[in-house]
Amino acid sequence: MPDSSHDGLNYPLLLLHLGPARTRFDVDWLAECSSTNTLLLERATRGAPSGSVLVANHQTTGRGRRGRSWLSSPGCSLTFSVLWRLPPAVRSSGLSLTIGLAIAQALEGLGIRGVALKWPNDIWLNSRKLGGVLIEVAFDSDGLGLIIGIGLNLQHDTDWQAQLGQNSAALSETELSLPREVILGAILQQMASTLDTFSRDGFGALREAWCTRNALRGRPVRISSESGEHQGVCGDIGADGSLILHTGNGAHLLITSGDVSLIPLPV
Ligand code: BTN
Repeated sequence: MPDSSHDGLNYPLLLLHLGPARTRFDVDWLAECSSTNTLLLERATRGAPSGSVLVANHQTTGRGRRGRSWLSSPGCSLTFSVLWRLPPAVRSSGLSLTIGLAIAQALEGLGIRGVALKWPNDIWLNSRKLGGVLIEVAFDSDGLGLIIGIGLNLQHDTDWQAQLGQNSAALSETELSLPREVILGAILQQMASTLDTFSRDGFGALREAWCTRNALRGRPVRISSESGEHQGVCGDIGADGSLILHTGNGAHLLITSGDVSLIPLPV
């Protein structure tokens, strides 16, 4: 890895916070790129190893889930992607929830309170969206590689905040002021350990930890999924990571993918 640079990442600080996981990641920093997911997808198809990480200070065309764009602002966001190759026999159900869980656990480990998870993999802080995860798949001669893209809001930027709307949170709201290397190191370290559990024991071993952080449990929600619009009360999640939606009279639906929004309760 290169030496620390003024504009880029402070690598010694990052290595310190990667701890024992430092041997499992190779982190590249870019001042600007289109999208770290797009770039890492290209590198993955050319055979980049598991643990390759791309961090960008600025993404010009950051991408979000369901074809949306992902807005970020230089210095105000932490945007990075990780290439992870799962052992061939591992089933990937629950994987995106696993990543959200690892991020929440890492932030909690740094002393940040008020972190929760919104199914499937939004990270919330104080009941607003702090960040999101976009997972894409790359195929090459080594088999399947996952591109795990993570975007977190570090601080509010006035113009950018106006575009994002009132529903976003930033880490600067907490009383802690943490350098991005500390946050990145903690997330990567936790990701390695949580993904090891996932590969060995499956999502079932992580389900309970996810459920205790479920931001919307017991709340009325509206879900748009591939099978249409559904309303009900948000329940727990199943062993495969699907969301249990209670639709009334003891009935429930299992939602495997979709967008969840809160329905305001009538007063
Ligand atoms: C979401 O829609 O909530 C997921 C957002 C994921 C954004 C991250 S930022 C780093 C990586 N590169 C991208 O273009 N997207 C992901």
